Amino acid sequence: MDIQSLRGMPDLFPEDLEKWHILEKTLSKVFHSCGTKEIRTPLLESTELFNRSVGNSSDIVNKELYSFLDRNDKSISLRPEGSASVIRAIIQKKQEHEKHKLWYQGPMFRYERPQKGRFRQFHQAGVEYLGYEEGLSEYELISMVIQLNQQLGIKKYKIKINHLGDKDTKENFCNALKLFLEPHLDTLHEKDIARLESNPLRILDSKEEATQNLLATAPRFQDFLSESPKTFLTNIVQHFTDQCDIAVDSSLVRGLDYYTGLVFEVVSEDLGAQDAFLGGGRYDHLSKELGGKGMEAIGFAIGLERIIDLMQIQPLQNVQKVAFITVGEQDQQKTYKIAHALREANLSVILDAFLSSATLKSQLKRANKHEHHFAIIIGEEERELGKYLWKDLSAQGDQELLHFEALIDKYKNL
Ligand code: HAM
Repeated sequence: MDIQSLRGMPDLFPEDLEKWHILEKTLSKVFHSCGTKEIRTPLLESTELFNRSVGNSSDIVNKELYSFLDRNDKSISLRPEGSASVIRAIIQKKQEHEKHKLWYQGPMFRYERPQKGRFRQFHQAGVEYLGYEEGLSEYELISMVIQLNQQLGIKKYKIKINHLGDKDTKENFCNALKLFLEPHLDTLHEKDIARLESNPLRILDSKEEATQNLLATAPRFQDFLSESPKTFLTNIVQHFTDQCDIAVDSSLVRGLDYYTGLVFEVVSEDLGAQDAFLGGGRYDHLSKELGGKGMEAIGFAIGLERIIDLMQIQPLQNVQKVAFITVGEQDQQKTYKIAHALREANLSVILDAFLSSATLKSQLKRANKHEHHFAIIIGEEERELGKYLWKDLSAQGDQELLHFEALIDKYKNL
């Protein structure tokens, strides 16, 4: 076939999704237990939303946004992340004066170069606490991250935290860094020169060796931070250090422009080059920048394709599967009524109607191949007797002929 899926946009098949379902259930259970409520926002938004939030200096807006003109020549974009849409939704609903604990999940789109752990359509699950000032909410979110890892059986991970100070700290540092780097423009990669203009803070996480060498003697961000955020960071590390590997990383600046205050990332060396499976932080100014009245905000998002690789949980095997086999000429309507009644009696069992005119032998072979636990067989003989054959497909192979009521009763109690 010459039509293929788009690069970096993988299909997820039933065998992949077994693990996804466990992940999704566990996430929503933990989010729910923290009193957060789900929000769903559209996949498409005005391009302006991401320009004004994620930021013009970020790679996401510069190079990675999937933007199109719609039929009215309005620029719209597939969402690259969830936080901006959540804030937009709350402003639009005029609910900024309330506190919100929200979670969301779904596909995000970034036109990145695909590689292991990096896709153009990927999935995030995120949490946003809105209306909560700096302090206790940082602790609550980090504790939620630890709990999520625990529930998913992830033991080998590291939480990196940093504090980006307030707007003034950021500005003062960026000016000093600019002054320091300007005489060395010929050593800098053009990417970093561009960052120097748009968001000098991002130079700190440059992958260029020459830049990193220069940074060794450059002004240090932590020297511009006042005592209070430094103490805040130390306290957080002290508080959680007996529960996980957590440390301050002063080069952590994050790839989105909207952060101020605490930022954090969770990484695992088992993931290879794309080692961050969770990222987040505080972004108190975003709602004002989007035209709102102002609302504190802090949150994080998990990359589901990445965290799923780390999960140490086996798919649940205990769902009973029953093959519903009909043989020979059947009164179709009656057969479907039986299947309907069985499902009504017990929705947690899988009743797999084979919908086949093949021989009993080949249908039983199929049931064994697909590891069904039982078979219900309706053939000539059963129809004459007005009964149904119940067959145990395990090694014992017991079987019995049952009346309709007894069949329903047996199915109900599986
Ligand atoms: P982010 O760090 O850009 O933050 O993304 C969060 C996570 O999404 C990353 O740690 C990574 O696991 C996953 N991810 C990002 N890009 C890709 C990709 N191309 N392929 C696979 N996985 C990817 C945000 O998006 C913020 N909205 C997080 C946040 C919420 N901050 C505050 N609230």
